[in-house]
Amino acid sequence: MRILVCGGAGYIGSHTCAVLAERGHELVIADSFVNSSPIVLQRLGEILGKTPLCHRVDLRDRHAVGSLFAGPRFDAVVHFAALKAVGESCARPLAYFDNNICGTIHLLQAMRDAGVGRLVFSSSATVYGDPDSVPVREDAPLRVTNPYGRSKLVTEQLIEDLCQHDPDFRAVNLRYFNPVGAHPSGRIGEDPGGEPSNLMPYISQVAVGRRKRLAVYGGDWPTIDGTGVRDYIHVMDLARAHADALEFMLREDRSATINLGTGRGISVLELVKAFERASGRRVPYRIVDRRVGDVAEVYADPGLALELLGWRAELGVDAMCEDTWRWQRMNPHGYAVPEVASHAEGVLASGITLGDATPVAEEAGCPVLQVSPVTQGPPHPVASSI
Ligand SMILES: NC(=O)c1ccc[n+]([C@@H]2O[C@H](COP(=O)([O-])OP(=O)(O)OC[C@H]3O[C@@H](n4cnc5c(N)ncnc54)[C@H](O)[C@@H]3O)[C@@H](O)[C@H]2O)c1
Repeated sequence: MRILVCGGAGYIGSHTCAVLAERGHELVIADSFVNSSPIVLQRLGEILGKTPLCHRVDLRDRHAVGSLFAGPRFDAVVHFAALKAVGESCARPLAYFDNNICGTIHLLQAMRDAGVGRLVFSSSATVYGDPDSVPVREDAPLRVTNPYGRSKLVTEQLIEDLCQHDPDFRAVNLRYFNPVGAHPSGRIGEDPGGEPSNLMPYISQVAVGRRKRLAVYGGDWPTIDGTGVRDYIHVMDLARAHADALEFMLREDRSATINLGTGRGISVLELVKAFERASGRRVPYRIVDRRVGDVAEVYADPGLALELLGWRAELGVDAMCEDTWRWQRMNPHGYAVPEVASHAEGVLASGITLGDATPVAEEAGCPVLQVSPVTQGPPHPVASSI
């Protein structure tokens, strides 16, 4: 299949690109790089032996999005492009609605105009808010608690309406639980800008010495050891699920909304211990007060994913920690390798296309960047992570 991957330079998108390319699909990435680095493209090139074509496009720019579809027809779109920091979404709700909802509307319009009717959308377990019971099934009540969650829920609903009323449109909404881990090569992984707000990158930054100590929010939750329990899912399992979802839509010609989790809850302290085993490093932590809005325990019922996609998570907590540690150890500062980063940024900023980029990329010792800037919308701050 020829697939457009929006947000394909981001954490989950880049891993999914690796899996899709390995399954023989032809990829085109569209990303604004608001929360990712062009170095990702070089790294994907190393992993795959071929750097995917990438357009620098902000989905808020309707005309630029339309121009993505000018070339050969895409068979499907996988849509990761969103801002995802809960805290920032409370501070700037309209920016989140604009980026995540309006951006998706532009994408859906362009898909319709180009006659592309297959979409896989990155949703989130955040749409369940504080669930009444666990494990959480897809038919659990939806009650979002912040503008980021609202943007995911509204987008899901827009997509579901299209599925209902447009006979040629099919979509799979994938509700991720807590993605962690990295590609086994250690070449791509999660690189949050600023202080991580997700647990795993925080733990790994403590282990590598970038941060002093982990704050554990609450030690008196009604859980196995008093700390919060979540459903962590390896990003490679998650990536595989996207390829399975695309194949499901083709095979069954239908739409669905599906949880992606392991079905098993892991406490904060269990994750810390597993990370210490994997890294051989101590992860100092201190238990502090609960945060407002946190909940004791959330994990998925992943039964529908098995039933519809034939998918189940295969990688356990040890692989999650080992792969995260390999990535962190090999890239202590994420993608911020100063000289290579500045070359790659220069390529993007100056608007130079593929051919012109060659000398710069060669000089940096990297495969050629295939970045073609379609357009660039107004800048907005880099989101950290959920
Ligand atoms: N990581 C998580 O914990 C998690 C959990 C549930 C759902 N999700 C969802 O999964 C998707 C991918 O998450 P991720 O962790 O890879 O995030 P990420 O920030 O690493 O990747 C998102 C990518 O989209 C790009 N992007 C953002 N807005 C854009 C726009 N307007 N136009 C073009 N590109 C844009 C960013 O530059 C980035 O490369 C997001 O939609 C997120 O909401 C993530």
